[in-house]
Amino acid sequence: MDIEQLVRPEKVHHSVYNDPEIFNLELKKIFSVAWIYVGHGSQVSEIGDFFCTKIAGQPVVMTRHKDNKIRVLYNRCAHRGAQVVSPESGNAETFRCCYHGWEYGTDGTLIALPQPRGYDGSSVLIDNPDYSMGLVPRFAEYRGFVFASLCSTGPTLEEFLGPLTKSIDDLVDRAPDGEVEVAGGIARHLYCGNWKLVYENLCDGLHPNCVHRSSIEAAQEQDDAVFSDGAGNIGIRQMRQNGAPWEFWENQVGLWAYPHGHSLLGDYHDDEKLVASKNDPSFNDYLLAMEAAKGKARAKEILGVTLWNTNIYPSISFMSQFRQLRVIRPLSVDKTEVLGFCFRLKGAPENMFRDTINFANITNSVASPVLTDDLEIYSRISSGLKAEGNEWIATARGIGRDRREKDGGWIAENGLSELHIRNMFDTWMSYMVA
Ligand code: FES
Ligand SMILES: [Fe+2]
Repeated sequence: MDIEQLVRPEKVHHSVYNDPEIFNLELKKIFSVAWIYVGHGSQVSEIGDFFCTKIAGQPVVMTRHKDNKIRVLYNRCAHRGAQVVSPESGNAETFRCCYHGWEYGTDGTLIALPQPRGYDGSSVLIDNPDYSMGLVPRFAEYRGFVFASLCSTGPTLEEFLGPLTKSIDDLVDRAPDGEVEVAGGIARHLYCGNWKLVYENLCDGLHPNCVHRSSIEAAQEQDDAVFSDGAGNIGIRQMRQNGAPWEFWENQVGLWAYPHGHSLLGDYHDDEKLVASKNDPSFNDYLLAMEAAKGKARAKEILGVTLWNTNIYPSISFMSQFRQLRVIRPLSVDKTEVLGFCFRLKGAPENMFRDTINFANITNSVASPVLTDDLEIYSRISSGLKAEGNEWIATARGIGRDRREKDGGWIAENGLSELHIRNMFDTWMSYMVA
């Protein structure tokens, strides 16, 4: 297979979405190299807290050790290889493997063995690092967001994030107390399709007016007055916004792409007209809390940022303005798991979190009349790509009209471009042929 032939300027070969060999290579060349999101520090806020996830299909566990520092460990017993920590999250003084009882500290160090005499004369000793749950080669955090890389060399986390640290800043700066925390559980779903499809979709301005038409029309018929506070429901407003006219997508929505495959759809929601500020008593209380904490000018500056989906390739997509984060876990070439997390803004009135959950129900819930359209499309793509007759998928929209930005990124002609898809495949190729 000649990988270099699979991506062309205006198209990509279908095998990048449906060939299991390519998928296995992606795990090795992309997911085992890039910085992958592990979790948020608030998920392990107390000493002994842990949270299990996967990187490149490998189980890892994020812990907070008794020195109050976070570690990311391979979740594998040094004895015979069993996964040591099996609940997804919790708190423990130590991790004891359920097979033969080898016991590890929350920093991964081997601290106890059953019937240790049996190991006399061998290299199996307490504190021998060869028999610890190993640390992954690199882990780091940016403002509480923890990432890890299974590769010991490469760009630092901040170099990797590049200008998109601004999206994480946007999320955190919106908290009157300057901190956010994960709250409200995890909304998860599987879809029958390749992992790349979700990133392509999340910055795809062309699709909402078509595929989300049924919820747009239903939302347009709703009167805001039916809601008790008269402000309208944030989910309803979002559904209506999906039906913004083409001119809006062409003249007001921005699409940016960045090194390492990242992308951003912005300027989509204008606070004055569309989001929670409109006649919303919760938002007004929140505004007062922000102004008291940061001053009027700074509060206005923070709330004036209008970022929509930020894709940090290849592991997360988040909406800083709406406190939502999706973790995208590739399971196989045509199966992907998505975990949706909500963030509470510390210092904000509790009602703001109600809005966050309402919004999650539209963007991350399988009961959503919007998300389910996209999931159906992913499985139709998986099915459609089995048809012979055309080996290629077009990525040409807006090509030749992208412009370079001062921060090293590119801005698309408009919000209907496929710049972000071309950019992801440029990055994809650079990982795959490295
Ligand atoms: S496999 Fe873990 S103690 Fe044996
Ligand atoms: Fe969609």
